[in-house]
Amino acid sequence: MLGAFITFEGIEGSGKSTQISRLLHYLMNSGRPATLTREPGGTPIGDQVRKILLDPANRLLDPTAELLLYAASRAQHLREIIRPALDAGRIVLCDRFSDATLAYQGYGRELSITTIQELDRIVTAGLRPRLTILLDIDAATGVARARGRNMSEGLHGEARFENEELAFHNRVRNGYLDLAKQESGRIRIVDAARTPEEVQEDVRKLVDEVLLKTDCKL
Ligand code: TMP
Repeated sequence: MLGAFITFEGIEGSGKSTQISRLLHYLMNSGRPATLTREPGGTPIGDQVRKILLDPANRLLDPTAELLLYAASRAQHLREIIRPALDAGRIVLCDRFSDATLAYQGYGRELSITTIQELDRIVTAGLRPRLTILLDIDAATGVARARGRNMSEGLHGEARFENEELAFHNRVRNGYLDLAKQESGRIRIVDAARTPEEVQEDVRKLVDEVLLKTDCKL
């Protein structure tokens, strides 16, 4: 595997999409081939799974069924997109990956962390990101941002997780911070409560640092 696998994590409204697309432009402009993708989804089959997962009408979705659907989307994504891109020496920027399952289904839904880790080993065969950028923001601020964005895009009530109570988002945020403590070398916390420009500056520094040490085809 020659490429570099970089993932982005954070609660709703942490600004991941803006930061990833700015980073993609920066990398492409400096001649570094990068693939941008996301979970759940990233493939035609994964996008069908994504629809089920994010449809607010699916209130009855069982937490274990939810966990398995995220795993299904990830397995397909690894086979079709992530592994081939890494094998071709590309930088893969992925909007959410395994840490999201630990944070949302583990800390948020309170499913067994051990079970989630076992399932993850089966799905990923141990593939870990080289770097994970955790865009950290207070849960109330993040959720307010996400709801404001959905309203302005006419997506009122569109996303299942945005309708969760604040306590859920607090558990997810604290879960992410816990994971970052456990793997402080890989998961780097970036304060997302600042301007997009300030956040991007930190993101680029972290990515450049890791790419310098990585044996990409660059
Ligand atoms: P997003 O594309 O807006 O980030 O939405 C994806 C949603 O799915 C988000 O609320 C987080 C959630 N999610 C999980 O609960 N578990 C997972 O493993 C992943 C990848 C996402």
